[in-house]
Amino acid sequence: MSKRTLVAVFEHEADLMRAVAAVRAADLKIDDVYAPYAVHGLDRALGWRPSRLGWACALGGMSGAIFMLWLQWWTSAVSWPLNVGGKPWNSLPAFVPVAFEGMVLAAGLTTVFALLAVARLRPGKKTRPIVPGVADDRFALVLEEADAAFDAAAASKLLRNCRAVEVSERVLEDEFSPLGAPAGAARTRLRRRLNYLLLLLLAVVVAMVFLTLPDPSRPNREFFPDMAHSPAYSSASANPNFPDGKTLQSPVPGVLTQGQSPLHYDATDAEALRAGRELRNPFSAKDAKAGARGALVFQTYCTPCHGGGGLGDGAVALRGYPAPPSLVTGDTTKMPDGQLFHIITYGRVNMPAQSGLLSPEDRWAAILHIRSLQTPTAPKSIEAKP
Ligand code: HEC
Repeated sequence: MSKRTLVAVFEHEADLMRAVAAVRAADLKIDDVYAPYAVHGLDRALGWRPSRLGWACALGGMSGAIFMLWLQWWTSAVSWPLNVGGKPWNSLPAFVPVAFEGMVLAAGLTTVFALLAVARLRPGKKTRPIVPGVADDRFALVLEEADAAFDAAAASKLLRNCRAVEVSERVLEDEFSPLGAPAGAARTRLRRRLNYLLLLLLAVVVAMVFLTLPDPSRPNREFFPDMAHSPAYSSASANPNFPDGKTLQSPVPGVLTQGQSPLHYDATDAEALRAGRELRNPFSAKDAKAGARGALVFQTYCTPCHGGGGLGDGAVALRGYPAPPSLVTGDTTKMPDGQLFHIITYGRVNMPAQSGLLSPEDRWAAILHIRSLQTPTAPKSIEAKP
């Protein structure tokens, strides 16, 4: 469809705004306005209703959120259910972050593509500006010559009074529909009804807040308790997630837990001798930091039995526990570090295993301290350090 129009060109934003106001006051029909940038307040001055892009954005966002909720439910509860600490597979609170991000992404993309679609823009599209310069430093106001009563001369005069630099009559092919059009009565009614609905919703929410006021003498309400309380399984009610009904599954052979360093020796004296041949202390005697750590470890974990000087006169030994041999004289001096590590790790006879209490590093550091006790200049007892 083509239409007859009157096109006025302006050099300044303020002139354009004044012309828009004057034209509307004169009851002339504005077809569209072209500007090189977004002129703030122009849509309001034109009396256009707000862009419908907000609806596209809301719809896109909602679809994104729903899709992500569905996808998470499907992946974690239907297609590949993985049991994590007995938590339910289908759990809304865990799905919220991804659903939110999906909503934002879909809302943004939908808005951009809706704008391109409505404006019929696509890559490589050739557009002729309505007048040269509207993409640069000119503003164009297009009036529609709706009927024969349109007085082009009077309108031109009005526009020139508003400092239009150029006014010309033109026949336009209708290929570009503006995003906004004057609000219809039906739309206004619809919008008003929607507002009432939102008001009602607000009232319900406020009422709910008062109805569910917390009672301090009782525990709070729980809305999604499934993340707080995992189901307790027993022999009576087996865990349905595993064929054997047990929640704690034995680890797959060869798997190491985090921080675990396996020791490839059995708990026998022969293996202790082998460890003595093969293992080396990772710390050197000159390592002051490891030495200090070793002293602290020994003070804390070993003195109760071995005594501060390693003589086997610890408090529990003096009160009846089988006294350990002196670490300073005798066998220990001849044992290589690896063998001591084996003994400390697995224990021996009345010496309890320390692997559950001390990391491998701390065990090696304690050996460093035993060695320092064995040197003739070593102090016979160490003071506890703060
Ligand atoms: C509950 C008391 C107790 C504690 C705690 C203890 N030990 Fe022992 N330890 C013993 C006893 C008892 C023996 C002797 C074991 C035996 O008869 O073979 C021993 C033996 C040893 C030996 C071998 C000595 C040798 O000459 O055969 C070493 C090395 C040793 N302990 C190091 C340590 C270190 C290091 C710690 C601290 C991380 C420690 N022990 C903690 C009681 C203890």
